[in-house]
Amino acid sequence: MSTILSIHNLSKIYHKGKVEIPAVKEVSFEVTQGSYLSIVGKSGSGKSTLLNLVGGLDRPTSGTIQFNGKELGKLNRYHLALHRRFGVGMIFQSFNLLPRRTALDNIILPLTFAGVPSRKRKQRATKLLEQVGLGGRTTHFPSELSGGEAQRVAIARALANEPKMILADEPTGNLDSSTANEIIQLLVSLNKDKGLTILMVTHDRETADAVSDSIITLKDGSII
Ligand SMILES: Nc1ncnc2c1ncn2[C@@H]1O[C@H](COP(=O)(O)OP(=O)(O)O)[C@@H](O)[C@H]1O
Ligand SMILES: [Mg+2]
Repeated sequence: MSTILSIHNLSKIYHKGKVEIPAVKEVSFEVTQGSYLSIVGKSGSGKSTLLNLVGGLDRPTSGTIQFNGKELGKLNRYHLALHRRFGVGMIFQSFNLLPRRTALDNIILPLTFAGVPSRKRKQRATKLLEQVGLGGRTTHFPSELSGGEAQRVAIARALANEPKMILADEPTGNLDSSTANEIIQLLVSLNKDKGLTILMVTHDRETADAVSDSIITLKDGSII
């Protein structure tokens, strides 16, 4: 089994005026390709910070993140943007869909940024919506979707450019428990059937236990 993500002594310190906020402290772990890893921990324990570092939304203060053979800290802005576009697909608690775009157009957008020709974009986005069980929702706007449907669109969008890894930050945090379970099952099937590596942040220890190959617990920015 090959390692897709290798994190070594990773730290992130935020600065608020003169105050230092160490959000992630000397964290090290590895993720095997095709595995399902969950990160649990209380609010403020550094989970989102860690995920954002892996997603290239933020840069480490120290330590290294090797993703698919590349060290993220050594990438210039352009190559870090490529990592965000093609390396990982991110999913958030609040879905983060563009409100003025239809479900289909929300998925088409990352394909446009990736330079996929217009006809192919539409074909691919349509197929992705079907894949997440939303074939009948192409022209719906986010406000016309239920929470579970909106998260499915966000998952389809995350898959658009065929990322190596899905980074999910509390993907069920805004959903009722049965809808949450459906979303988790969708992630499990992407992992089991498509071999996608999944790194999921969750509050929900029980779900993490049920679906993950391994679990990391963060406390005050450190692994315990
Ligand atoms: N952009 C930021 N600027 C300053 N402090 C931040 C920033 N983002 C997060 N933090 C702080 O870092 C710590 C970890 O936050 P976060 O990673 O969001 O935790 P979690 O996702 O586990 O709730 C918290 O103390 C939080 O207040
Ligand atoms: Mg968080």
